[in-house]
Amino acid sequence: MTAHAAPRPMTARPGGPLRGTAAVPGDKSVSHRALILGALAVGETRITGLLEGQDVLDTAAAMRAFGATVTRHGDGAWTVHGVGPGGFAEPDRVIDCGNSGTGVRLIMGAMATTPIAATFTGDASLNRRPMGRVTEPLKRFGAQVFGRSGGRLPLTVIGAADPVPLRYALPVPSAQVKSALLLAGLNAPGQTVVIEATPTRDHTERMLAGFGATVDFEDLPEGRAIILTGRPELVPQTVAVPRDPSSAAFPVCTALMVPGSEVLVPGVSRNPTRDGLYRTLLEMGADIAFENPRSEGGEPVADLRVRHTDTLRGVRVPEDRAASMIDEYPILAALAAFAEGVTEMPGVGELRVKESDRIDAMARGLEACGVRIDETPDSLTVHGCGPDGVAGGATVASRLDHRIAMSFLCLGLAARAPVTVDDAGPIATSFPAFAGLMTGLGAALREDAI
Ligand code: S3P
Repeated sequence: MTAHAAPRPMTARPGGPLRGTAAVPGDKSVSHRALILGALAVGETRITGLLEGQDVLDTAAAMRAFGATVTRHGDGAWTVHGVGPGGFAEPDRVIDCGNSGTGVRLIMGAMATTPIAATFTGDASLNRRPMGRVTEPLKRFGAQVFGRSGGRLPLTVIGAADPVPLRYALPVPSAQVKSALLLAGLNAPGQTVVIEATPTRDHTERMLAGFGATVDFEDLPEGRAIILTGRPELVPQTVAVPRDPSSAAFPVCTALMVPGSEVLVPGVSRNPTRDGLYRTLLEMGADIAFENPRSEGGEPVADLRVRHTDTLRGVRVPEDRAASMIDEYPILAALAAFAEGVTEMPGVGELRVKESDRIDAMARGLEACGVRIDETPDSLTVHGCGPDGVAGGATVASRLDHRIAMSFLCLGLAARAPVTVDDAGPIATSFPAFAGLMTGLGAALREDAI
């Protein structure tokens, strides 16, 4: 739902150590996919641990608009009665995906091979983001798309009446594009093949197989081919959503910034397509233990125990790691400000088309907090302040971007002077309990200005 709420400034003040257990919410990517695949399976899918952030609630509302019965039974416990591949009904209203690129792109894919029309919109952030990366290949299935210049929302998709399967090499490493095309392939005859040169998060492939679709893989010279056999019977599942490693990154990195901290984050997904930040933190010298490794809901999970580390070293993050930590660069940039030496983050041009231009948002905010930054069109370099610490004492624009807001609030908890973000409202899209969870660990966060 597109919010027009008044901005809600929030201030983080430096204070004592963070201690305790941080039960972060369910994984956002898995939550969207559980609702959408549940809506495409005939019968009742049960979901536990669903993220009840606004992004996912918007996807739930969209699935209802396409004819699925989606019911909340209690904290994170939901059921979805789906309609089968090709069974979506034509919505009688505009589908508003709010702030969520994942929501809108996956849903466009899921309906693009069914002969119905749907009009999609979002908030000011989403309506600026590129949709051509999804709509262009969807047209090759036979869908028609009518939208604004530059392939931006609002736009209308008329699904293909007689879809043809697609073979497509992803021009950008994007799990959203890959997933949209695989979901479209569900109602195309024959095999839909998506080839990715760089591995991106694989929740869709895992979950499609879990729902009974045939998904094969083949290593080709140009990358890995994901081969979906169309028109499967999707069998309803019980999906236990693991906790989100992208949300866990905030208490984990804050514990690394604030001296004396020790935090346990239980049940976090350790999916290897999502763990780039954690590999990077270990290279920086962080003290993180991955306890009690196990499998939950088809995903590897572990309990993360993190202790503040006196000396974190700046590192060069390998370019080929970017896709596995794409949402974690803002909080890594904030943490890098406390390290000794330089942290280089090359090959991250995709950050410019997220909920905000995250290279620019982090660069301007860090500079305002007294940190030296170098940036290019596709890289960000942070000059760590080392033992001098980070000055802080600034008000930073969150730009309708939850991860920018949370990153600067975390930084403010460890800086020499408080940091205010001009609007903490967007945090509700992915981590509604952020402020409560962090204050429960001992953080000084308050809703208002410095
Ligand atoms: C997501 C994929 C990533 C990520 C986003 C969630 C997904 O986007 O940034 O937060 O659930 O598929 P891209 O596909 O644009 O890389």
